[in-house]
Amino acid sequence: MSAAQPAQRLEFDAAAVRGDFPILQQAVNGRQLVYLDNAATSQKPSAVIDAVDDYYRSCNANVHRAAHALSGRATEAFEAARRTLADFINSPAAEEVIWVRGTTEGINLVAASWGRANIGSGDKIIVTQLEHHANIVPWQLLAQQQGAELLVVPITASGELDLQVLQTLLDKRVKLVAVGHASNALGTLNPVADIVAMAHAVGAKVLVDGAQAAPHWPVDVQALGCDFYAFSAHKMFGPTGIGVLWGRRELLDAMPPYQSGGEMIERVSFSGTTFNALPYKFEAGTPNIAGAIGMAAAVKYLQSLDRAAALEHESALLEYTLQQAAALGAIERIGAPAQAASIFSFNIAGAHPADVGTLLDQQGVAVRAGHHCAQPLMEYLHIPGTVRASFSIYNTFEEVDLLFAALEKVKGLLL
Ligand code: ALA
Repeated sequence: MSAAQPAQRLEFDAAAVRGDFPILQQAVNGRQLVYLDNAATSQKPSAVIDAVDDYYRSCNANVHRAAHALSGRATEAFEAARRTLADFINSPAAEEVIWVRGTTEGINLVAASWGRANIGSGDKIIVTQLEHHANIVPWQLLAQQQGAELLVVPITASGELDLQVLQTLLDKRVKLVAVGHASNALGTLNPVADIVAMAHAVGAKVLVDGAQAAPHWPVDVQALGCDFYAFSAHKMFGPTGIGVLWGRRELLDAMPPYQSGGEMIERVSFSGTTFNALPYKFEAGTPNIAGAIGMAAAVKYLQSLDRAAALEHESALLEYTLQQAAALGAIERIGAPAQAASIFSFNIAGAHPADVGTLLDQQGVAVRAGHHCAQPLMEYLHIPGTVRASFSIYNTFEEVDLLFAALEKVKGLLL
């Protein structure tokens, strides 16, 4: 593969970073695009677009199958991508990195395979009030199928998990705690290592939905101590349709296959089939080869930046946003977690979030408005939804000004 790797430039220059994302240089509804919907999906730098393009132009072939040169090249690039992702999350081994379509499929894989084998009648699964539907519904279905109970950790007024209640919920019947690393709706960064220690003390396993954390914070699965960690490429500058499920080898080894077909077998016969070793046991069918290569390119792009400085930039954008919101008035911030991803979830008193979102879009500002696939959280907060501005490394202070200039107009129209 000849795709150019991003030059090492370990300082953070928001303007230079912005220049790496071709899609941002466009007008929407006659205005310069202000893209503040990064928690839904991030934009892609040229390094990722080029890596995918180069793969299809220079070495597209199926992996692990043929004896020809292109297949060898594709296999090498695909497995190198797995090693890049393993390093990215400090996985003890590349075999513990399973390619999936994204966080949702990763969680479903664990629920269908580990869950059916390890959760039985009378057992308990704990989720939290902050979870995305993807980290609720698979557990709800599993609990129904297996006769298990689903328990929910509530949140405090600032939108943080109430760990004292978690402590009271934990007992020997709890087999799994499923928790988001960061909330997609409020931004809350959860104390995953503490939660893991509490869960492991009663013998429960911990699955972490890392979709909203991986784009912002370095992820170290060994330091977190969790048992499963799932995340998606598309929220961290990679392509859609690809993600990673990381799991502890001893758990993955003992788990039955999730989907079946080619690649995941060792030998098939009508008298019985034996299964492939990790990670292939969980990768039935031709995988998303270009996606894996694109995800690795996204990791390398992130690693070419000073990530601490990138995080500081995102935090400064949120801080500036909060100041602007206070100055504008009539804005109610939803949740105020002490440690959070750069997500500003809010409502304008008396206005429906969907109307605010539409009026912002008409002014070139892209946000998400609605329940953010967190309906139980909205129900708990007694609101239909929120308007969510979610920041990324390429956003600027000028864009925050444009958001508030647009919100001032929205206020004039709706209030
Ligand atoms: N989970 C994505 C979001 O929060 C889609 O917008």
